[in-house]
Amino acid sequence: MQSIGTHVWELLFSPIKIGSMALPNRFVRSATNEYLTDKDDFVTDRLSELYERLAKGGVGLIITGYAYVRKDGKSSPKQAAIYHDRFIPAYKNLLERLNPYSSKIVLQIAHGGRQSRPELCGGTPIGPSPVTDKSTGVTPREMTEEDILDVIGCFGLAARRAKEAGFHGVQLHAAHGYLLNQFISPNTNRRRDRWGGSIENRARMLLEVLKECRRQVGKRYPVLVKLSSDDCLKGGLRVEEAVEIAKLLDKEGIDAIEVSGGASRLRVAKTDIDSPKKEAYFSHNAWKIKKSVSVPVICVGGIRSLEIMEGIIREGKADMVSMSRPFIREPDLVDKFRKGLITQAACISCNQCFHPKGIRCAQLAKDAP
Ligand SMILES: Cc1cc2nc3c(=O)[nH]c(=O)nc-3n(C[C@H](O)[C@H](O)[C@H](O)COP(=O)(O)O)c2cc1C
Repeated sequence: MQSIGTHVWELLFSPIKIGSMALPNRFVRSATNEYLTDKDDFVTDRLSELYERLAKGGVGLIITGYAYVRKDGKSSPKQAAIYHDRFIPAYKNLLERLNPYSSKIVLQIAHGGRQSRPELCGGTPIGPSPVTDKSTGVTPREMTEEDILDVIGCFGLAARRAKEAGFHGVQLHAAHGYLLNQFISPNTNRRRDRWGGSIENRARMLLEVLKECRRQVGKRYPVLVKLSSDDCLKGGLRVEEAVEIAKLLDKEGIDAIEVSGGASRLRVAKTDIDSPKKEAYFSHNAWKIKKSVSVPVICVGGIRSLEIMEGIIREGKADMVSMSRPFIREPDLVDKFRKGLITQAACISCNQCFHPKGIRCAQLAKDAP
């Protein structure tokens, strides 16, 4: 096996702080919708076990799967809910199981906007503008000023519930074509009022959500964002604008920025990452954002090998490396790296882990006796 230089250990296994949150290393489990809630979208034992395995495996920061902040924000079946106080006790049970470990855990809070579907959200999905989602045929209802203010309030309440449950922070989901991404993107936001047009106007929703979260949880509670750096589609958000939005978020007191991109599954989670060249497909954008902000930047998207991870940190492209699919196959990935057992994740990026009965690695299932 290829030897691992000490510098890799120093960089990737060195502690870091995100706001007031101290993390033991630079590895992040990126938000992953697990499809493992019960019929009313409460956290289940199976889901809690999955998080415990991740914490036991040594990852520094766990970001939960998408938790929806208002009933109509649900975008897929078996997605976790955080739109009411009644969801808090189940999260508390989950978090108790993580107490013995040094990993920290942050709740990702989200609203699907036009990426919801009528059968999931109980009516016509909402969005900044009535722009049809070609992949689903959904044309959202244009949000009124009242709708916008209500959704902002729901994000704040969700952050308050996360804090009450014991999460170490929250992450605002402003990527992958969901509602907050729809507002910042010129493709989905065609408004002519104070919520659309200029970058400042398109970023207003996200910034107001951040301010409302701060009002609910205070200055010291970590609030992170997963930001689209490029919609990867014609007429969509580009990295130059994402940099400007990142600067505004930094000024407004965001604690860390996870840099992602894409508005469709195949852009967000690219398949066939089978060589170092194909890895870390948003790292250049992460670097552009990192150069412009003062807070830690997290890079996500196709990161698989220690060599690439170490390069990202050493070259100052990001402060932390984040992965989703590799942790589905190997929840103990970080421990294996730490012990020098492997230098690369086994994930082949086939995307068969998206499974309505619960995420699982199809390759492992194939190999099982
Ligand atoms: C099964 C699955 C579910 C996902 N769910 C979410 C989610 O809830 N929120 C989110 O921000 N990203 C989600 N993602 C995207 C990942 O966080 C990540 O950005 C993407 O998969 C690229 O990273 P990777 O190459 O390490 O998998 C999901 C990805 C997968 C594979």
